[in-house]
Amino acid sequence: MAEPLNVINTKEMEKEDKLRKVRNNLKDVKNIFVVMSGKGGVGKSTVSAALAAGLAARGNYVGLADCDMHGPSIPMIFGLEGAEPDVEDGMLVPVTPVPSLKLMSIAFLLPDRDQPVIWRGPAKMGAIKQFFEDVAWGNLDYLIVDLPPGTGDEPLSVLQQVPGIDGAFIVTIPQDVALASVRKSLSFLNKMEVRPLGIIDNMDGLVCPHCHETIDVFGSSGVEKASQDFSVPILAKLPLDPSFSKAEESGKIIEWMMADSPWKKAFDDVLDEAERLGAEKKDRSRRTDQQKSMKRCRNGRNGTRISHEMPLVFLRCTYCRNRFRIL
Ligand SMILES: Nc1ncnc2c1ncn2[C@@H]1O[C@H](COP(=O)(O)OP(=O)(O)OP(=O)(O)O)[C@@H](O)[C@H]1O
Ligand SMILES: [Mg+2]
Repeated sequence: MAEPLNVINTKEMEKEDKLRKVRNNLKDVKNIFVVMSGKGGVGKSTVSAALAAGLAARGNYVGLADCDMHGPSIPMIFGLEGAEPDVEDGMLVPVTPVPSLKLMSIAFLLPDRDQPVIWRGPAKMGAIKQFFEDVAWGNLDYLIVDLPPGTGDEPLSVLQQVPGIDGAFIVTIPQDVALASVRKSLSFLNKMEVRPLGIIDNMDGLVCPHCHETIDVFGSSGVEKASQDFSVPILAKLPLDPSFSKAEESGKIIEWMMADSPWKKAFDDVLDEAERLGAEKKDRSRRTDQQKSMKRCRNGRNGTRISHEMPLVFLRCTYCRNRFRIL
């Protein structure tokens, strides 16, 4: 009898082929978080930079990919305008303001930062792809991706071209127009099957430069309503702090993240959540590894299970009862 023909989904295969190079380049990156907003100027780059600098200050290895092709601001925030990445073995080497932090931005690759970049769609998508294929990110605990504003081609291209995104932080400000865009961002993430990790309400209240108390500027926002409607938590409400803006403009974000301020105190909740998600994923993959190693019983039989007495170090075979070490 003739064998049934295997049906091969060529579209899926092509897609998988395109992703393979990126997947391979990012194989040692443990967590990938994107930072997005449906509206420009609400503080995405600020949050991305603070997330990267704050996680690095807590002892993690962090990468930050500035995917804004038209208004890249990450080099300025880190005081690295004019820095140029090296090329080694055909790969771009990210710029490192401190050893545990790697940055890449289109601004590092442009000869003249005062000239606007005029991209045609495919060239722009190609450049975004190169950020994940041809940059030597190496071993990282976290890769933070600063997305351009909106829900158009560029954010779409990143979400489609980077496999294994662990989730998205959504940045907003307490204004109705910004909140409408939060709802749009959440629907966009839903369609792209990327997990929304939480909303960050930026510029919520103004820190008085004299007494350091917080003044309510915009009044209450609908961010709570969006959070309830989509079941996505509000991770932090960050005050508008003029001294923070100054620190950013003079490239002193790392120093800012090491000092105490109401902004930093509020932002610690975002850093805690990022680390909690990282730890949760590590725990999940350790359990998967344990399940895989269940097949490694000395007697060659499957069906071993984790011993309850010594959970992380030993397995006991359900059949022969032999105990063997897995860590
Ligand atoms: N909480 C804050 N307090 C004071 N200034 C802030 C705060 N958040 C952001 N800013 C300032 O607001 C401006 C816009 O922030 P940022 O560049 O991070 O926004 P963005 O969403 O990345 O913008 P774009 O859509 O253009 O990429 C910057 O000058 C930044 O310093
Ligand atoms: Mg930006």
